[in-house]
Amino acid sequence: MITNDSKQDTILILGGDGYLGWSLGLAFAHRTDDNIVLVDNLIKRKWEKEVDAKLLLPIKKPKTRIAEYKRIYGKDNLSFEKVELLEQEDVAKVIRKYRPTVIINAAQQPSAPFSMMSPKHTAITFSNNILGHLNVLWSIAQIDKSISYIKLGTAGCYMDTDTDFVPLGKKNFTFTHQGKQHNILNSFIPMQATDFYHQSKISDFLIDDLCASLWGLKVMTVQQSTVFGATIEENQAPEHAGLSARFNYDAVFSTVLNRFVCQLAIGHPITVYGDGKQKTGLISLSDTVDNFMRFAKTDIKPGKHMVVHNYTMRLSIDEIAQKMVEIDPKIKVDYIRNPRNEGSGKLQKKVQVHKLVKEPMAKKDENLKKELSNLLTFTKRYKDNIDPSIIMPKVEWSVEQKLNEAKEAQSLSTYRTYLKGKLTGRLISTTPKS
Ligand SMILES: NC(=O)c1ccc[n+]([C@@H]2O[C@H](COP(=O)([O-])OP(=O)(O)OC[C@H]3O[C@@H](n4cnc5c(N)ncnc54)[C@H](O)[C@@H]3O)[C@@H](O)[C@H]2O)c1
Repeated sequence: MITNDSKQDTILILGGDGYLGWSLGLAFAHRTDDNIVLVDNLIKRKWEKEVDAKLLLPIKKPKTRIAEYKRIYGKDNLSFEKVELLEQEDVAKVIRKYRPTVIINAAQQPSAPFSMMSPKHTAITFSNNILGHLNVLWSIAQIDKSISYIKLGTAGCYMDTDTDFVPLGKKNFTFTHQGKQHNILNSFIPMQATDFYHQSKISDFLIDDLCASLWGLKVMTVQQSTVFGATIEENQAPEHAGLSARFNYDAVFSTVLNRFVCQLAIGHPITVYGDGKQKTGLISLSDTVDNFMRFAKTDIKPGKHMVVHNYTMRLSIDEIAQKMVEIDPKIKVDYIRNPRNEGSGKLQKKVQVHKLVKEPMAKKDENLKKELSNLLTFTKRYKDNIDPSIIMPKVEWSVEQKLNEAKEAQSLSTYRTYLKGKLTGRLISTTPKS
């Protein structure tokens, strides 16, 4: 556990009701004397209702969780503000009110399947992930350029980039065209998404870069890999359950390892999409939080967009499934049709890491074991809440597949009802059987 109480700061955590935002807020508040303000519009609670994404353990309202934090830890340095990031004046108002030294932005639509559900869901993803982000950058530029802005990015930006190496920051590249060599100087590696969510994250990454240089802001993008785990030290004990973070285990909002551990907990076959050769960066929730404590105390240079890759290991989906088999040799692994158009990870990508994240990497095997065991204990504790029908994938990437389904559902106007039925696990057939 990292602690750092050398200097008292005010830190705004945007997305403070979310999986990462709440965990960061709780850790920062408990481990430092900083004043931590969680900011959120609670929209995720509505999106979860829309797709029937039940939580493993229902979470209370932010103010109730904060009161529980005060009761358990006897500290008064955690608070909540309900703010819609799409309202620029409200964003500016909360920044003026608290005058933070650091703003961490984890307030986004974080799901690839959600972004692929319909044109409306793509639009929601782009507006939240880009316009909300721009409102924060504009506010910082207008109010106080000394604020350090730490933005959650994603390692998935490089998902479809056919490379064997992902460097940190800008590099010089050489390429050949019609037999001649050409150079691209001082540029980021090309990023390539396979869904609209990751495409929105590529755009907001480039916006970070633009605003840092345009206005001389202090910006760090954390290219965050897939997070697993439910708890950190502050909320691991059963009697601290009132401090739990949101834990999604459904096919729309959950991350892969969290979903697999829930399947393991109820003895359900582990469902791997495709052949499972696709690779993902992985990091535990505890390591993520520890690393963010370092990021928040880092001196970010004005105008120099700092990029950090936050990950400890890279595994294929099948390797993750095999970790479940190691825990329970009786568990079956099912390879199901992959609804996503994703590459199979033919190259062994190496990812350059910053010295700020080297420490947890050195202990990655030991940490993985410990974190998996904590996660399994947590999921088993609440396994009676698991609804297996929401774990299977229901959102197709292919438009043709969607249209076929719509045809089956007779018309596009009934497709939404049809899709909603699929998402909630209640398959509504609008085609009368003749
Ligand atoms: N969880 C992961 O494994 C993972 C991996 C890589 C990157 N990330 C990134 O981390 C960030 C947080 O992810 P998470 O898993 O904690 O998601 P989450 O959905 O649990 O939390 C996001 C929070 O942001 C809030 N929010 C969304 N739009 C908002 C708006 N317009 N105004 C105010 N609040 C708003 C939501 O209500 C929610 O509480 C995202 O940017 C995501 O892309 C997450």
